[in-house]
Amino acid sequence: MKRMAWLKTALFVGAAGLSVTVAGCGGGGEGPIVAPPPPPAEYADKHMPAGWWVDEKIIEEGRQIFIGAKNIDVNCASCHGKDGKPVKAGARDFRNTERMKLYSDSVWLWRISEGVPNTKMKPWKSKLPEEDRWKVMAYERTFGLKDKEYDVAKKEWVPIGGAAGGGAPAATGNMKDGAAAPAGGAAAPVTPAKPTTGGK
Ligand code: HEC
Repeated sequence: MKRMAWLKTALFVGAAGLSVTVAGCGGGGEGPIVAPPPPPAEYADKHMPAGWWVDEKIIEEGRQIFIGAKNIDVNCASCHGKDGKPVKAGARDFRNTERMKLYSDSVWLWRISEGVPNTKMKPWKSKLPEEDRWKVMAYERTFGLKDKEYDVAKKEWVPIGGAAGGGAPAATGNMKDGAAAPAGGAAAPVTPAKPTTGGK
């Protein structure tokens, strides 16, 4: 009996160790969350065309671009992952709300257009007209900023519809986990998942 108890403890500890490892891998290894630099002047005044954040057709067109269905040479998913879970090391994880909410629409467009120097993120402006860059962004934001749109006047992400509403609610600076978002959103917070794959 005593031995059984010991064994159970050992198994338990083993399983805990495993889940820690799994969580460590899933985290994405993107490094600390730092705000991106401000966009250069030529992008600073560019903004998502009116209504596109909520336009299902635009978002679907963006998805087609993202997964390489529209143009096989433009396959964001080959690094960023079809479901937003990066498949190439270092690729930005768009599910990371805390990081992505630091990106304005202008910065986001700039990065898609010009890429990020010295990384695998190439400039896409020669392959994607500006219109398509906005579309793919409208889709990318659904991973971590679903039910949100960028409010140019307030310079922050707000619940969809909030921008039009105007009446600035108090303490908008503190958007926690989309509390105001309609149910159903808030996709998978990065909590340590159960080890799905049988351990080695
Ligand atoms: C070959 C792999 C690869 C492909 C394909 C790719 N990316 Fe990236 N992307 C990356 C990497 C790596 C980073 C992280 C760069 C860094 O360290 O800042 C990144 C970062 C980003 C960022 C955030 C930039 C920043 O400042 O943090 C955006 C937005 C982005 N990618 C959009 C796209 C879009 C849209 C496409 C398709 C048109 C795409 N990516 C295709 C590898 C890729």
